[in-house]
Amino acid sequence: MEKILVLDFGGQYNQLIARRVREQHIYAEIRPYDKITVDDILAEGYAGVIFTGGPNSVYDESAPHFDPAILDAGVPVLGICYGCQLIAHMAGGEIKSAGSVSEYGKVELTVTGGRLLKTLPEKSVCWMSHTDFISRIPAGFRVTAVTANCPCAAMENEEKNIYAVQFHPEVTHTVYGKEILRRFLFDACGCKGDWRMESFTSDTIAYYKDKLKDKKVVCALSGGVDSSVAAVLLHRAIGKNLTCIFVDHGLLRKDEGDFVETTFTKTFDMNLIRVNARQRFLSRLAGVTEPEQKRKIIGEEFIRVFEEEGKKIGKVYALAQGTIYPDVIESGAGASATIKSHHNVGGLPDVIDFEEIVEPLRSLFKDEVRAVGEQLGIPQALVWRQPFPGPGLAVRLIGEITEEKIKILQDADAVFREEMDFFGLAQKAGQYFAVLTDTRSVGVVGDARTYGYTVALRSVDTDDFMTADWSRLPYALLEKVSSRITSEVSGVNRVVYDITSKPPATVEWE
Ligand code: XMP
Repeated sequence: MEKILVLDFGGQYNQLIARRVREQHIYAEIRPYDKITVDDILAEGYAGVIFTGGPNSVYDESAPHFDPAILDAGVPVLGICYGCQLIAHMAGGEIKSAGSVSEYGKVELTVTGGRLLKTLPEKSVCWMSHTDFISRIPAGFRVTAVTANCPCAAMENEEKNIYAVQFHPEVTHTVYGKEILRRFLFDACGCKGDWRMESFTSDTIAYYKDKLKDKKVVCALSGGVDSSVAAVLLHRAIGKNLTCIFVDHGLLRKDEGDFVETTFTKTFDMNLIRVNARQRFLSRLAGVTEPEQKRKIIGEEFIRVFEEEGKKIGKVYALAQGTIYPDVIESGAGASATIKSHHNVGGLPDVIDFEEIVEPLRSLFKDEVRAVGEQLGIPQALVWRQPFPGPGLAVRLIGEITEEKIKILQDADAVFREEMDFFGLAQKAGQYFAVLTDTRSVGVVGDARTYGYTVALRSVDTDDFMTADWSRLPYALLEKVSSRITSEVSGVNRVVYDITSKPPATVEWE
């Protein structure tokens, strides 16, 4: 399979680079610079290597470096930002600090020649973010672009197939960024671009059909996108040898437990054990108001329930998980990856007796997982489900958790979701939900005084959930949601909209 290596030097856009390559139908893998050698790169047959950006200066003692042999290995290389400077440094050039004339943001780029930038107009806009710059290029290279403050905004050694750009072609602000990446991939690396999600799906099914033949596998199903897609994919491969365990803690969204059960048993005819543990969770949560304590109790109880079910099943060959690529990268890949995936399912590997962990989606990004889900025929409502925290509504229900408050929150949240869908915004916002605050206030209905709960609506736009901005939802939508919630959900007489970004707030209220 044709593939590109994205060699990670710690830059903030690394995942974006891999995404951009995959958008060209070429499989891309991100690997930390210190977890792969030049020999590995050659042995694994990468068609090309992209050096990412990074926060360091090449002269910092702790700055990440790479084996200069890569530049003579015959593999096409593209360096971006820090990666560009690193190539200059490795090949004998010179880097200086620009100090007060460092460039950040949109900058005019002037192309002066070269193979990589051949199809660009002489002037265009690129996205810069650097303090250091290349003050002397290495022997064998030539400058192919400049900016007002940067004497080498791009350089290349065409003979060795090595290219370097000081700016970021992967961000959309670089107007011809996609074109530059395409030229590197298709011209310099000679890629064909024949990687398709369809082939991923059929290849993966065929692989597990063979690998897990006649073996029993258990999957912890949360009803979220990742575990659902992983489960259906494996079901296609091994059918009834897969058993899914779905723990319903009673803190799911309205009708969600039934929806998950129906989907997996009726639509897909899968072995599903639904554990209705609502009462058990509620009694352990009675009187608890502190957010961290709520999370802890739910996490512990979840494991306990799973353990009891796992014991009934006995020994299985594998435990399947819906770990996806960002989970793997965040944990630094390699050895620590497993630790993170254990966390994903709350320590489940310790309570099930199994020989192997199966993670069919570990090379995919979220939207790629969704594309696989659609190919497998999983209902839209599930494939496009927004992220939902493990502790469920417990962290959206301020104060003590009671049956009455869960019902109010589920109903209010359902109204909000219906209207987001009606207004065509359901797949546009990053995450949106209702929160039941613990505040009550005075209202009036007809001639009567009311004293009801305040519901807060939260909707955020975000790429990575590390930071988020509140969504500028249309007033017409907010008005309709407010009027429907106050008339349809008994016990609520006031609705507010949360206009706080993250930071300083977080996405969830608890
Ligand atoms: P915060 O509130 O930390 O949320 O800004 C960022 C993203 O993480 C989700 N989230 C969780 N997911 N278990 C999860 O599986 C949790 O305990 C948890 N807490 C927050 C949140 O929904 C948002 O998408």
